[in-house]
Amino acid sequence: MEPATREIFFVKRPVGMVQEDSFRMETRKLPTLGAGDILVRIRYLSVDPYMRGRMNLGRSYAPPFDLGSVMVGGGVGTVEQSRDPNINAGDWVVGQMPWADYCVTSGAGVRVLDESMPPTTALHVLGMTGLTAYFGLLHVGQAKSGDVVVISGAAGAVGSQVGQIAKIIGCKVIGIAGSDAKTQLLQDTYGFDGTINYKTQDLREQLAEICPTGVDVYFDNVGGNITDGVVNYLNDFARIAICGQISLYNSVEPELGPRTLMPLLLTRRATARGFIVGDFAPQFGDALKQLQQWYQKGQLRMLEDVVEGLQNTPQALIRLFRGENVGKQLVRLP
Ligand SMILES: NC(=O)c1ccc[n+]([C@@H]2O[C@H](COP(=O)([O-])OP(=O)(O)OC[C@H]3O[C@@H](n4cnc5c(N)ncnc54)[C@H](OP(=O)(O)O)[C@@H]3O)[C@@H](O)[C@H]2O)c1
Repeated sequence: MEPATREIFFVKRPVGMVQEDSFRMETRKLPTLGAGDILVRIRYLSVDPYMRGRMNLGRSYAPPFDLGSVMVGGGVGTVEQSRDPNINAGDWVVGQMPWADYCVTSGAGVRVLDESMPPTTALHVLGMTGLTAYFGLLHVGQAKSGDVVVISGAAGAVGSQVGQIAKIIGCKVIGIAGSDAKTQLLQDTYGFDGTINYKTQDLREQLAEICPTGVDVYFDNVGGNITDGVVNYLNDFARIAICGQISLYNSVEPELGPRTLMPLLLTRRATARGFIVGDFAPQFGDALKQLQQWYQKGQLRMLEDVVEGLQNTPQALIRLFRGENVGKQLVRLP
């Protein structure tokens, strides 16, 4: 008999900060497996800032979530039953998964994990997070040895990987984060050369002091006031990799910032380029090999911030926008 599963539905588009009332949990019986299907017991879910964008209507790179649909995102789980000849019961798999205890899905839509790696790494260092850092820094930011790299959202999942990769290739790395505990972590655990707590320190004064020769690559995860400050320190021919703008994701009205960016890009002959990690999908295989090598050598570390229980998944998502997560935000389903 198929088990019952709890599922979390998206039921209300948030206005401003996302709240728990956008979600509702229900229980239902799972469907029977068809040919090629697998039954997955979901073990970990990834919650990610882009999910907030999908809660709004309007054009973006991913379609809006439909009201009344089950929330989905990256997840890893174990296969309980399989009608896919290439997947066995007991295998760990990664893929898009519902916010649910179990799901019946096509085996073709998941990837079986190499069990020599901890399974959750497929949701960060050896998954979307690591790939975003890798392509954003090396391909979009064109970082090279000797560059001064400044990272906003530096203590988060993507930011911490960007900083470590930048150190591996020989850059000077400065991280901007929202608490002393996080800036300490950047220095002690991730080996950053300099840090700024944007909540308690004067960003511009600190940048002038820590980056006296200017900034060659700015890896932007947050946008807003922080970016308004950093761009003043760009060197000639600097590159901005626009990875995320989390400070604006819950905005109700578009914000009008200082109109200094375009003149600065002009006079410094700098480049700002937005990117979505999926743009690089054809090159994921080689990048994952490199990321795995660095991870196995201990050069890429990642803290996991684990919230327990499916019912707390909305709360885990909200933590990202409050800056409460330290490292990759995951939900563990016991
Ligand atoms: N382009 C792509 O393909 C791609 C792929 C993955 C992720 N991303 C983007 O990368 C960024 C980081 O994602 P992540 O998964 O690694 O999340 P994360 O950095 O682990 O978590 C989000 C962090 O953002 C910071 N933050 C939240 N609100 C803020 C605000 N108003 N001002 C400044 N900082 C704020 C908080 O850190 P503090 O405590 O330091 O404030 C928080 O811990 C996001 O913008 C995300 O959308 C882009």
